[in-house]
Amino acid sequence: MTMPSKRLVMPPPNEKQELAFKEDHRYVAYGGARGGGKSWFVRWKATLLALYFAGIKILITRKTYRELLNNHIAPLLGMLNGVAKYNKSDKCFTFPNGSTIWFGYCANDGDLGQYQGAEYDVWFADEAGQFQEHWLTTIDACVRGANKFPKRTYYTLNPGGPSHGYFKRLFIDRRFTEDEHPEDYAFIQALVTDNLALMESQPEYMRSLEKLPPKIREAWLHGGWDVYEGQFFEDFFDRPEHYADRQYTHVIDPFEIPDSWKIYRSFDWGYNKPFSCGWWAVDYDGVVYRILELYGCNKTPNEGVKWTPPQVFAEIHRIETEHRWLAGKKIIGIADPAIWDAETGESIAEVAAKHQVFFTPGDNKRIPGWMQIHYRLAFDDNGFPMMYIFSNCKAFIRTIPLLQYDEHKPEDLDTDGEDHVADEVRYFCMSRPIKPRAAAAPDTYNETPMAMFLDIPKEDIKAVSRRPRMEIIDG
Ligand SMILES: Nc1ncnc2c1ncn2[C@@H]1O[C@H](COP(=O)(O)OP(=O)(O)O)[C@@H](O)[C@H]1O
Ligand SMILES: [Mg+2]
Repeated sequence: MTMPSKRLVMPPPNEKQELAFKEDHRYVAYGGARGGGKSWFVRWKATLLALYFAGIKILITRKTYRELLNNHIAPLLGMLNGVAKYNKSDKCFTFPNGSTIWFGYCANDGDLGQYQGAEYDVWFADEAGQFQEHWLTTIDACVRGANKFPKRTYYTLNPGGPSHGYFKRLFIDRRFTEDEHPEDYAFIQALVTDNLALMESQPEYMRSLEKLPPKIREAWLHGGWDVYEGQFFEDFFDRPEHYADRQYTHVIDPFEIPDSWKIYRSFDWGYNKPFSCGWWAVDYDGVVYRILELYGCNKTPNEGVKWTPPQVFAEIHRIETEHRWLAGKKIIGIADPAIWDAETGESIAEVAAKHQVFFTPGDNKRIPGWMQIHYRLAFDDNGFPMMYIFSNCKAFIRTIPLLQYDEHKPEDLDTDGEDHVADEVRYFCMSRPIKPRAAAAPDTYNETPMAMFLDIPKEDIKAVSRRPRMEIIDG
């Protein structure tokens, strides 16, 4: 078969695209601001690989078929006209050298069926942040095959979306599990200003980004990873550099709990999904500290360990009798009111009581409950919140930033997320509700004689108040 010959002419890549072209790590993330030229890179890199390695199999994914069509298939039909043939029912370009570029979408778990048993050499996950973490790992398992072709996964990303936390961990914070090898991961930060072609042809695009609300603007325009649209608890901050001074961070170094502080336990039941149990200490100012937690999760996020109620409460009871922060303390328990339902005879709450683990039913009003958490996360003028999380509480620290707004009920969170810690925190906060902090009083210092006549700067007069430092535990 002969194909009409055609010369493909690639426009010059911008600086970041060039870096991405040269990358040869197993996992390459090209991410940050919108409009940086990421999808353009995907189309050209896939084409160059297909032309260079005869017989290579390449996959390009997006969330929906429509997105694939608009962002990739339609532009490639133009670009590859006379170079490769497109088969619409297979959603596949075939090159004369036998190389193929396939297209796949995934908008829900059911779509994963497309990938069962499939093998690809290179996968381009365009807008990968919009995929759930388990979609990403399932499809990535298809990047395999006993052949000489490079095996590679390219993620293009904007901050935000359900797997924001996953990508931030791997590529920004570079915190790896035992099964992940740091040398496999490379990140290229894209900025909208990288794309000179776009800036010249559509200056209004830049101006439209400038007008976005501050948090979304930071994420989209500057590629900031700490904030993004959709994150439900955008007021939660984990800042390791402040673990010791406890200002403008919620996560802190653990310390020994004074004996006189009250202790609470909050609980959300789960079997197929994780259960979550949190222990809290409350100081004399009413500040709450999440000191310990027991989270019933497998290695797979949002998958339960499937312990029976007796197993769960035996373990909780063991922790409460053995841990030095809890042993011998009166512990006030609050739980999901649903654990009093007794469809099959004995309720979960009754099983708990048999193990000396007692609860009162929590208040399950969702929006007021979330508001209580927001009130406690708010920082005062000196950066001190009303809720702290000990750095050993890994489930809270991992899951709270992942939760997203519900698309249909804007004040509520999307219950498809891993919300078990959040629910249990909500029951706890509703058991001792607080008022929102009053807005900071207007600063009238400049009208005082010190400022007006003596020229004494405010900092020299008013010392910053600090919470007392506690003893820090080793490790
Ligand atoms: N190197 C380049 N040369 C010419 N046009 C480019 C180049 N890179 C990107 N573009 C164009 O700029 C626009 C935005 O790029 P795109 O890849 O869609 O950005 P992103 O996927 O990062 O949001 C598109 O119209 C794209 O074709
Ligand atoms: Mg794009």
